[in-house]
Amino acid sequence: MTKSDDSPKPFILREAAGDGARLKAPSAERNLAPITETLTRALADAGLADTPMRALEIASGTGQHVAAFAKTFPHIHWQPSDGDAQALSSIAAWRDHAGVGNIGEPVHLDLLAPDWTQAIEAPVGLVLASNLLHISPWEVTQSFLAGAKTLLAADGIAFVYGCFKRGGDWVSDSNRAFDESLKSRDPRWGLRDTVDVAAEAARQGLAVREVVAMPANNTVMVFARQG
Ligand SMILES: C[S@@+](CC[C@H](N)C(=O)[O-])C[C@H]1O[C@@H](n2cnc3c(N)ncnc32)[C@H](O)[C@@H]1O
Repeated sequence: MTKSDDSPKPFILREAAGDGARLKAPSAERNLAPITETLTRALADAGLADTPMRALEIASGTGQHVAAFAKTFPHIHWQPSDGDAQALSSIAAWRDHAGVGNIGEPVHLDLLAPDWTQAIEAPVGLVLASNLLHISPWEVTQSFLAGAKTLLAADGIAFVYGCFKRGGDWVSDSNRAFDESLKSRDPRWGLRDTVDVAAEAARQGLAVREVVAMPANNTVMVFARQG
């Protein structure tokens, strides 16, 4: 276990500041480059480096990430989404600001709602979520994995970035403190363990392709369809 001064920030929208509806979260700026680097490699490993396809981003938050992803991955048509109205208006403002043609209108998706996948045109090559699973009840993790299984193309991948325990290891003291602060906000929140998420993924018909240690004690999990 290591200490880190760069512990993940739990409430991106609350810390956001910006002109008009286009919110900015410092944490989203910080983690964009490592997420992009790992996503680039994961897509290449899946044979999707240049494949024209649709991607669904769950819980897009401010919209900073999807605006950047659309420029880095021009062969992908990005569908941003969130369950929060303020987030949706910020995502729309970032989409307009990006001035690209490969970002769809942000769509309201609440992963605790039944049948949320019906709002999305399938199949998609990529389902992505950053900093969602620990800031939501376990049911959101289950819903994310089930939805990914429903929506993914045969060769598609699901990509999750965030703060996890890895095989029972807190990874850092700051991660353990972060877990406590999350649970003090909502006892249903907290860091998920990669082992528990992998087991749930297997129940939903997804296999873990890789678990990647990321900067600031964060983690990426990549999933593909089983078999
Ligand atoms: C910490 S922010 C992460 C935003 C962005 N992905 C990032 O990494 O900067 C968490 C986001 O999850 C969204 N969220 C929380 N629960 C959700 C749910 N049940 N369905 C969809 N979005 C949800 C919130 O509205 C918020 O925008």
